[in-house]
Amino acid sequence: MTIDGHDRVTIFDTTLRDGEQAPGASMNLAQKLQVARALRDLGVDVIELGFPIASPGDFESVQTIARQVEGPVMAGLARCGKEDIDRAWEALRDAARKRLHVFLATSPIHREHKLKMTRAQILERAVAGVSRARGYCDDVEFSAEDAARTEVDYLAEVVERVIEAGATTVNIPDTVGYAMPAQFAATIAHLKRNVRGIDKAVISVHCHNDLGLAVANSLAALQAGARQVECTINGIGERAGNCSLEEVVMAIRTRADYLRLRTGIETKHLYATSRVVANATGFHVQRNKAIVGQNAFAHESGIHQHGMMSHAETYEIMRPEDVGIHATNLVLGKHSGRHLLQRRLGELGYHLDSADLDRVFEQFKVLADKKKEVYDGDLEALMLGLFQDAAHGAWHLVSLSAASGTPPSAAVCLEHRDGRRLTDAATGNGPIDAVFNAIERITGINAKLSDYQVSSATAGEDAQGEVLVEVEHAGKRYRGRGVSTDIIEGSAYAYLEVLNRIATRRLLTVVPMEAEALCGAI
Ligand code: KIV
Ligand code: ZN
Repeated sequence: MTIDGHDRVTIFDTTLRDGEQAPGASMNLAQKLQVARALRDLGVDVIELGFPIASPGDFESVQTIARQVEGPVMAGLARCGKEDIDRAWEALRDAARKRLHVFLATSPIHREHKLKMTRAQILERAVAGVSRARGYCDDVEFSAEDAARTEVDYLAEVVERVIEAGATTVNIPDTVGYAMPAQFAATIAHLKRNVRGIDKAVISVHCHNDLGLAVANSLAALQAGARQVECTINGIGERAGNCSLEEVVMAIRTRADYLRLRTGIETKHLYATSRVVANATGFHVQRNKAIVGQNAFAHESGIHQHGMMSHAETYEIMRPEDVGIHATNLVLGKHSGRHLLQRRLGELGYHLDSADLDRVFEQFKVLADKKKEVYDGDLEALMLGLFQDAAHGAWHLVSLSAASGTPPSAAVCLEHRDGRRLTDAATGNGPIDAVFNAIERITGINAKLSDYQVSSATAGEDAQGEVLVEVEHAGKRYRGRGVSTDIIEGSAYAYLEVLNRIATRRLLTVVPMEAEALCGAI
């Protein structure tokens, strides 16, 4: 709808699907629910919840969120195959508002080497996929994977045929981040000019950031007539990530004078949503990241500070409060009540039911007794603990002791969900290595440590340390985090989270996603 000459752009968030595909970014169900609620508060129009056929875990999270979170349209991804579409529908059907999103690659390189299908076969499969999806749902999106490397005339033919078959949104992805802004805009303009029935569907774009152009390409496409942007919070996603939601939204808002566009995003929730996603995935936002980075609104140089003092707009094109960054960091303490805690957690983007709030309040009291001042970072650490418990990991830490003698050693006691309590000891290159070795001896899972980082979760002398661990196991990367006032304990929590993830994954039968051409004709 156009208001004051500004066209409305649909914001389609795919943090929980394409974002989560970033290696090591996996979230558990409790975390995904929090992210979905934060996205709802942010006012996104469509949330892509996942790829239900990919694994039983994906199916469960799509279904649970579709049932529990109301407001935005809930989308589920499927290849153009019968089982994929049926499974996606099964997961989505209870949502109040839903969209089936089917995709098929169209570029010559994908046709020849991945799908081994001709142009005509792809056309037929795409139409069949959209028709099947329309049999279930009025809101169907079709994505021509690798559209940016597809011959434009063939792309136009595919788009025309899927609109005829009932697609209500046609998505033009730059799957490998190859496009240039003017070229990508020309592709959209070509489709607008040459596809019969193009006005019956919304043109969408989905840009990856391999050349750092995802936001620029998305904006160029909007100028050429696209009216949906697919994006992720903090720009997370495969490889260099996806178009960053906060950047594209703030560009549209800040340059509305030029773009003549608008979105329905409540921009003052951007910062909290960015923090919720960073905490859920363990992917910290770089300091100089536009809009939500720690330095995004910091002015250090004397000239800039002087200009800012005379008139803020000399060097500031957006105000920090527009994106929800406030100068004051409300500090809680042991006299803060449950209500204040709930309010602050809400401001940080977390919505807890009463049982979870009780648990967090208990832990908050213990922490406030240990530390005089409880900062936002401490609250985020408490939320991390809550989500790790909610994931029902197989193993829990009961106790540990570690010494840095010669050789460094550690003794660890873990409890398994089935009630077993096991203790073991090990040596290592240092006390933390010894703890990891002891945990591996107990769980029987051996992983290769590929990254280990410690940072402080909050300010002050009694700050809690956050430990980030990344490992490789059976060709996959897993990340885990732990927060504690004791770094060795924090390391143990982080390593246990990783091994619990590996243990859970082993139990899942993953449908092979590689054999796309065999995913089942309709
Ligand atoms: O990058 C891509 O092409 C995708 C599609 C499935 C939309 O993620
Ligand atoms: Zn993608």
